[in-house]
Amino acid sequence: MTAGVKYKHIPVLLKETIAGLNVRKDGFYIDGTFGRGGHSRAVLEQLSNKGNLLAIDRDEQALSCVLPEFNNDLRFELIKGEMSELKNIVGNKSLSGKIDGIMLDLGVSSPQLDQASRGFSFQKDGPLDMRMDSNSGISAAEWLAEVSEDDLKKVLYEYGEEKFAPRITKKIIEDRAVSSLKTTSDLAKLVIKALPKTYSKKHPATKTFQAIRIYINDELNQLESALKGSLEILKSGGRLCVISFHSLEDRIVKRFMKNASMESEQYRGMPNVPIEFQPKLKIIKKSVKASIEEIDRNIRSRSAVLRVAEKV
Ligand SMILES: C[S@@+](CC[C@H](N)C(=O)[O-])C[C@H]1O[C@@H](n2cnc3c(N)ncnc32)[C@H](O)[C@@H]1O
Repeated sequence: MTAGVKYKHIPVLLKETIAGLNVRKDGFYIDGTFGRGGHSRAVLEQLSNKGNLLAIDRDEQALSCVLPEFNNDLRFELIKGEMSELKNIVGNKSLSGKIDGIMLDLGVSSPQLDQASRGFSFQKDGPLDMRMDSNSGISAAEWLAEVSEDDLKKVLYEYGEEKFAPRITKKIIEDRAVSSLKTTSDLAKLVIKALPKTYSKKHPATKTFQAIRIYINDELNQLESALKGSLEILKSGGRLCVISFHSLEDRIVKRFMKNASMESEQYRGMPNVPIEFQPKLKIIKKSVKASIEEIDRNIRSRSAVLRVAEKV
């Protein structure tokens, strides 16, 4: 059996995302974060024989676990790639400006988190890897073996919003001089030792793992590029739906949609604004959160925020 096949992912805010996309049955849609295809399946259910869905994922395993229902569907194509490349991927297919809707369901999938061998979780002992694309870049263990004290502190502050960044950094730097950090438990135990013993509902290593994962996968830059690319490839009336899972992502999405929905500052309130300075997006949904029922069914939906905008 292909590694990862037995792991499932429950799509979050599914009904809300499909409503946000306002699917046109003959339209061309993009799922920039295929995962296990929960959102893709729901879009395909709305499309006619003339509709199309192009899905992308940077994780080889998402492609090797794709179910026959997708492979046998002539309206569907799945490619390995990064969301930051959306503009080029779509441009190479001569589809720029012809896209009816784009979904981005950010972060990691449940199969990535649940498999110890992927090294994302402090709750499962595995190699300290954390790469969504296991074939590119360096693992978290490799990075932690060589990163400077200042850079590590900065990553923990900026991507983890971890106020104990200096203490954790000091502990990691001291410890790696004696023995290398190889596993997720090595790192989790170190963080626990570095922190004061105050009670918190969250695991003490939550923010550290989030920060290192975001850095290793360059997640925030990927998101910024994907948003800019989306704006260029959507057709007028096309929808952009983004689900984020923490405040750093959501801030980027919120700011992007807000800025793109305003006239450029120099022309604000003036008549006859040149087209390149006019708003490019219209905000459709400001922030949609999971219902209590959904959170009861799927705890991972508790931090999800969906934002929807339409290309003007
Ligand atoms: C939250 S899951 C998506 C789940 C999916 N909507 C479903 O219902 O099964 C996020 C997926 O996006 C992929 N991903 C994350 N960042 C990516 C990026 N920058 N480029 C391409 N794929 C990315 C991950 O590998 C993961 O499979």
